[in-house]
Amino acid sequence: MSTIAFLGAGNIANAIMGGLISDGHTLCAFDPVEDCRERARGLGVTIASSNTDAISNADIVMLCVKPDVVLDLLNEISASSTGKLFISVAAGITTANMLSRLPEGTALVRCMPNTPALVKTGMTALFASPAVTAEQKTSATSVLTSVGESLWVETEAELDIVTALSGSGPAYFFLMMESMINAGVSEGLSAEVSTQLVLQTALGAAVMAKQSESDAGTLRKQVTSPGGTTQAAVEYFQSVKFEEAVRGAVTAARTRSVELSKD
Ligand SMILES: NC(=O)c1ccc[n+]([C@@H]2O[C@H](COP(=O)([O-])OP(=O)(O)OC[C@H]3O[C@@H](n4cnc5c(N)ncnc54)[C@H](OP(=O)(O)O)[C@@H]3O)[C@@H](O)[C@H]2O)c1
Repeated sequence: MSTIAFLGAGNIANAIMGGLISDGHTLCAFDPVEDCRERARGLGVTIASSNTDAISNADIVMLCVKPDVVLDLLNEISASSTGKLFISVAAGITTANMLSRLPEGTALVRCMPNTPALVKTGMTALFASPAVTAEQKTSATSVLTSVGESLWVETEAELDIVTALSGSGPAYFFLMMESMINAGVSEGLSAEVSTQLVLQTALGAAVMAKQSESDAGTLRKQVTSPGGTTQAAVEYFQSVKFEEAVRGAVTAARTRSVELSKD
């Protein structure tokens, strides 16, 4: 089984480390923050004295620091990087940029997880640079599958669309939940009752949509009786161009992701 080093042991690293430890992997990590080191130790992760020390015996190196730190970090460890598989979770830092700091021919996977990874229901899309082998792709898949589902995209540009859909997507659903809870309260329910109704409805709709063989549009039509309450609501959504608003929001997020990758 691979030995995996985590550089940065914050939120996303902690979620992935938890999943991997329960699958029996040997993990090593470095983070300058004592609280992060302590939390990782508590999971059974060996704490290294530096990033270079952390990767010395590792086959896989997880880059789990904030995007603005990644390139300096790669400069720091580059001399000890040969032959390892790198997996970056940093938003917006391109493979070309990262590979320019690493020895020629380094295998690098760039991925975009999302916040539900913290509760093991994440969605991660991965992109492989040319040197990544089929075996390394399998290893990367199993690392990210420890916090939810994963899929591979063929081009790096698709990661900007992924960012706009599943990366930022949890916030869109939170916004919908927030708006529905507020609507329930303004119609006369208590905040507590409105929250319970909305959260369980969101969960139930997601589980139904995942388990059903019908697509989301069909499911929506199935619960929309002609002349009924749901139809009244859906017609109102259509009258204020809900679908257009969602389309515009995703395009705005994608455009911003492209801009951030160029910084
Ligand atoms: N959280 C998510 O759901 C999510 C989703 C998609 C992508 N990501 C990506 O995941 C990455 C990490 O996010 P996060 O939420 O886990 O951040 P985080 O909780 O802040 O964790 C990053 C950790 O790395 C440490 N660090 C800083 N410089 C370092 C260095 N040179 N060497 C080793 N560790 C260093 C940080 O310490 P300091 O606090 O001292 O800087 C911090 O403890 C980001 O690039 C983000 O784009 C996260």
